[in-house]
Amino acid sequence: MLLRGAVSAPLPPCLRFGQTRVRTLPRSVSVASSSPYGGDYPLSVSDEALESRGFLLRRDAEGLDLEELNTVFVAVGFPRRDPEKIRLALEHTQAVLWVEHRRTRRPVAFARATGDGVFNAIIWDVVVDPSFQGIGLGKAVIERLLKELLGRGISNIALYSEPRVLGFYRPLGFVADPDGIRGMVYSKRQKKK
Ligand SMILES: CC(C)(COP(=O)(O)OP(=O)(O)OC[C@H]1O[C@@H](n2cnc3c(N)ncnc32)[C@H](O)[C@@H]1OP(=O)(O)O)[C@@H](O)C(=O)NCCC(=O)NCCS
Repeated sequence: MLLRGAVSAPLPPCLRFGQTRVRTLPRSVSVASSSPYGGDYPLSVSDEALESRGFLLRRDAEGLDLEELNTVFVAVGFPRRDPEKIRLALEHTQAVLWVEHRRTRRPVAFARATGDGVFNAIIWDVVVDPSFQGIGLGKAVIERLLKELLGRGISNIALYSEPRVLGFYRPLGFVADPDGIRGMVYSKRQKKK
């Protein structure tokens, strides 16, 4: 993956939160984006079309109910996390995309990207509420996150994918082990004494 320079804006945090227990996320395989589109990453569905179906695209964390977000995390099998820690994580997040269900005001799809704001980004916490899966919301969120990052000149974009979801990411421009490069994750269990 080649890199292009750009400046990013910090995420304005304005979040509701409560209190629960902390857990961590990620998973196994790392995947890197190989999109040839630059900032012109094409969208398969417009914001207006989504809105007409009752789904509002949100590009910052304002109004995001972290308890409701936790509910979606838990519904897809992710651990529930301390909302205060989610709030802090979002403060250090480069780009966030979520979909608000207009009728209930709840988040039904979410993804975010962290990074250095210039060269590199990693996408985290990609979730769609099970009741709303399979209707294009996951794709809509990732497309917009990519468009946002590529538009800032950030083209080295990676994520961790569970094996069963590789087929979701591939058509969006992600390849596993690009040029034979393998991702590695620090693991205490593997560390030699
Ligand atoms: C993976 C996930 C985000 C996909 O979101 P979604 O809204 O259900 O997916 P979409 O409806 O946008 O699907 C977009 C396309 O990807 C395909 N797709 C969706 N999930 C797929 C999967 N697991 N494997 C292969 N293809 C998949 C769809 O068939 C669709 O294809 P099309 O564009 O040709 O019609 C969602 O299923 C989810 O939240 N899963 C649980 C959490 C999770 O595993 N997150 C990823 C962690 S790495």
